[in-house]
Amino acid sequence: MQDLVKITEDVLARVKACESLDALNDVRVEYLGKKGIITLVMKEMKDLSPEERPAFGQKVNEVRAKAEEAIEEAKNRMQAAARALKLEAETIDVTLPAKKMEAGHPHPCQLALDEVERIFVGMGYEVVEGPEVEYQEYNFTKLNIPEGHPARDVQDTFYITDDILLRSQTSPVQARVMEQGKLPIRMIAPGRVFRSDAIDATHSPSFNQIEGLVVDKHITMTDLKGTLTQFAKELFGEDTKTRFRPHHFPFTEPSAEVDVSCFKCGGKGCRFCKGEGWIEILGCGMVHPNVLEMCGIDPEKYTGFAFGVGLERIAILKYEIDDMRLLYENDLRFLSQF
Ligand code: DAH
Repeated sequence: MQDLVKITEDVLARVKACESLDALNDVRVEYLGKKGIITLVMKEMKDLSPEERPAFGQKVNEVRAKAEEAIEEAKNRMQAAARALKLEAETIDVTLPAKKMEAGHPHPCQLALDEVERIFVGMGYEVVEGPEVEYQEYNFTKLNIPEGHPARDVQDTFYITDDILLRSQTSPVQARVMEQGKLPIRMIAPGRVFRSDAIDATHSPSFNQIEGLVVDKHITMTDLKGTLTQFAKELFGEDTKTRFRPHHFPFTEPSAEVDVSCFKCGGKGCRFCKGEGWIEILGCGMVHPNVLEMCGIDPEKYTGFAFGVGLERIAILKYEIDDMRLLYENDLRFLSQF
């Protein structure tokens, strides 16, 4: 009986001292397990006389019950504390400002292209694409640039084989579309072109052009001038004037370069237009009969006009960027301004 008092005190003290569920379980095993202290005491009952047994049995049961109760209580207390800690750690403060989403936005060249496409699609043009790796036949021959022509200058072009090159202009798309034989044609063809140029403020070995082509019956220079004048007004503002200067391109005849009146100074001359009052924006002309013929179109029945615009040049002018390299460097301090 003396032992039982001691055991009770011990087990309660041990339970109280426990700081984890593991430690608590160890105490439970030590006292109540198969070979636990209390279990063994129970087994000692058989050594007692029948008279002593009931009183002893009752005592042991009391000790056992007290130990179980204390362990159960400690377990509940520890589990509740752990739950509380976990809840606290997982608390979400819904009043905190949300993490900012870094949403991307279009590159200035993309913005310029979207604008150009919007204008021409509005006039009923289709947007088409051609390959960046092209046969010399499309890049040159079918555009009235025969072998030996100075416009083929090898120094300007990246050749892959004698016959295949990185296109130096988007004009080969003209030939590809004409060859499909669907008439009339009203298309623009934006895309990347390549030239063996060193990088500086106005040059890059890879840049973008937008080709334009219209082929139909009775297309004249008036249509060309009217279309490009309207294009310039929509792109740079209603007050924009255009000037067509005679030029030479092998695939058009006659050919012209188009200037727009400086939209900064209105034509008076300023730093932006280098005092000229005019800014060059594109090349154009009436499709050369040789080109029509080589692409399977009868030049006696059909005529057409074509133009080629540098996309970076449009972006630079429209957004007043003073160095083309900024468009390629992917510097967010620059790009996020658009
Ligand atoms: N392909 C010419 C170039 O890269 C630009 C050009 C000029 C395209 C006149 C045309 C055109 O379609 O008619 O310099």
